[in-house]
Amino acid sequence: MLYVEILGNLPSMARDEVKAMLELAGGRIKDQDYLFLKLDADGEAFPYLDRLGLTHEYGELIVEAGSPGELLKRAGEVRWPIKGTFKVTPKTMANCRHNVMGLPRKFGAVVNAQGFRVNLSKPDTLVRVYCGERLYAGIRLRFFDPKDFEGRKAQHRPFFRPISLHPRVSRTLVNLTKARREILDPFMGAGGILMEAGLLGLKVYGVDIKPEMVEGAGINLRHYGIRDYRLKLGDATRLEELFPDRRFEAIATDPPYGTSATLAGRRRDELYRKALESMYNVLKKGGRLVTAFPANFNGRKEAERVGFRLLERYYQRVHKSLDRWFYVFEKV
Ligand SMILES: C[S@@+](CC[C@H](N)C(=O)[O-])C[C@H]1O[C@@H](n2cnc3c(N)ncnc32)[C@H](O)[C@@H]1O
Repeated sequence: MLYVEILGNLPSMARDEVKAMLELAGGRIKDQDYLFLKLDADGEAFPYLDRLGLTHEYGELIVEAGSPGELLKRAGEVRWPIKGTFKVTPKTMANCRHNVMGLPRKFGAVVNAQGFRVNLSKPDTLVRVYCGERLYAGIRLRFFDPKDFEGRKAQHRPFFRPISLHPRVSRTLVNLTKARREILDPFMGAGGILMEAGLLGLKVYGVDIKPEMVEGAGINLRHYGIRDYRLKLGDATRLEELFPDRRFEAIATDPPYGTSATLAGRRRDELYRKALESMYNVLKKGGRLVTAFPANFNGRKEAERVGFRLLERYYQRVHKSLDRWFYVFEKV
């Protein structure tokens, strides 16, 4: 059995990202204990779990228990699949309801008794002990280093525009579409969403109404080693003309929120409505659109009006004057 520890800032969105990846891989979330997810999945899921954005780590779940004593007992009953040296690192989640004082040390002693050597500074294997409603112990297989994402934040890109989602969030928007081959971002800006999709090996298509964005997004994509892209200067409300006879597998986007600089002189709500219609027209049946809209726009109603079905939505307060929803729609 596998586990995933998701990040806590957008927990429902993070959980559904895992769910979407497991749907592609052939697995499911079996249980959730706060930020700890138990997965019914095996090694075949690794390439899909490796795509995740809002995740801290995943690993192999070895034992689980209802009390520290039971956890230690169970840990002694299994043969730990440890390579080289190990170290135990605990994670006490906000809902932890056990006294875990001294547990990592006792746990280390149990594993040590099986002949494995401890190395606190440079272990080959990290044994993780989680405390939530219940207790879990496993072996970390993959850690999603924040530095990898930080390095792609707006200020580190060669073409800089301050209007950009965090790379982890962009990655999650892409994954929520369940795209396997390709993705379109019709309001691509500096290309933040396309960068994350390109790094997953998807073919990326982008549109922006401003020539400097089309050029800048290309610079950013090349900088991060993405070669399989097609960027077009054009209008997100007229995608049918830009891509005649083309139907996309998936769309992920972050439209402008209403400053005159990014709206290119258009009325915001009208722009959203027309863009929703146009995105619907160039999306394949069964394909997903994942998009943000400010909270004072009724994205659900307007999307349903053009024929989309709402699958999920997630609220985020960005700052005092901006709150938004991320929507997952399906073309039925
Ligand atoms: C919020 S930014 C997108 C940021 C992008 N998601 C990123 O992470 O870098 C919105 C972009 O939409 C573009 N835009 C505005 N109106 C448009 C339209 N009608 N068609 C296409 N692009 C448009 C703006 O030029 C701007 O670059």
